[in-house]
Amino acid sequence: MKRVAILISGGGSNMVRLVESMTGDHPARSCLVLANDPTAGGLAKAAALGVPTATVDHRTYPDRAAFEVALQAELDAARPDMLALAGFMRILTEPFVRQWQGRMLNIHPSLLPKYPGLHTHARAIEAGDAEAGCTVHEVIPDIDAGPILGQARVPVRPDDTPDRLAARVLAQEHRLYPAVLRRFAAGRRERLDLPPVDAMD
Ligand code: GAR
Repeated sequence: MKRVAILISGGGSNMVRLVESMTGDHPARSCLVLANDPTAGGLAKAAALGVPTATVDHRTYPDRAAFEVALQAELDAARPDMLALAGFMRILTEPFVRQWQGRMLNIHPSLLPKYPGLHTHARAIEAGDAEAGCTVHEVIPDIDAGPILGQARVPVRPDDTPDRLAARVLAQEHRLYPAVLRRFAAGRRERLDLPPVDAMD
């Protein structure tokens, strides 16, 4: 059984879906939910699901390296085999990423390689894109890059706002991430493209 630590910064809706998926014959179990912000709403949700939680508040460290030493110490205590970034909004340095490369996944709310970074939905609308979506990928030192493990697509509607589009994409994140994590934990690296769901809004 693989042990998975999930890193969050906010509400943790993806984290909840991942934790809930890891039951029965799933090849992994969550061993820790770790936040870089003590006010992250996901911490209480993880505790309610019976998952150990930890906080490493990045604001209390002088630099990224010191923050990551503390992060690694929490991870060492929980002994994860792999990490799942789920709305984790801190940039990780190359030495930290190298330590976990091949064992660390991220979900990003765009169809990478389009729109790495922030404000993905506003950028897709601004560009006049007909579709948007989300990507689960392996983490490498470059931001929002790395081998793509899966994508799910949604239409961009003429009256979309960034918030409306974000909600439509988030529903697909909740389908995609558990499906990819399950395959990855079983040692499968081939790309998963989820079929679109009709009439989802
Ligand atoms: C999700 O949309 C996720 O894709 C995004 O943050 C949101 C977190 O929501 N991640 C990034 O933008 C990473 N660069 P959640 O806390 O409800 O899972």
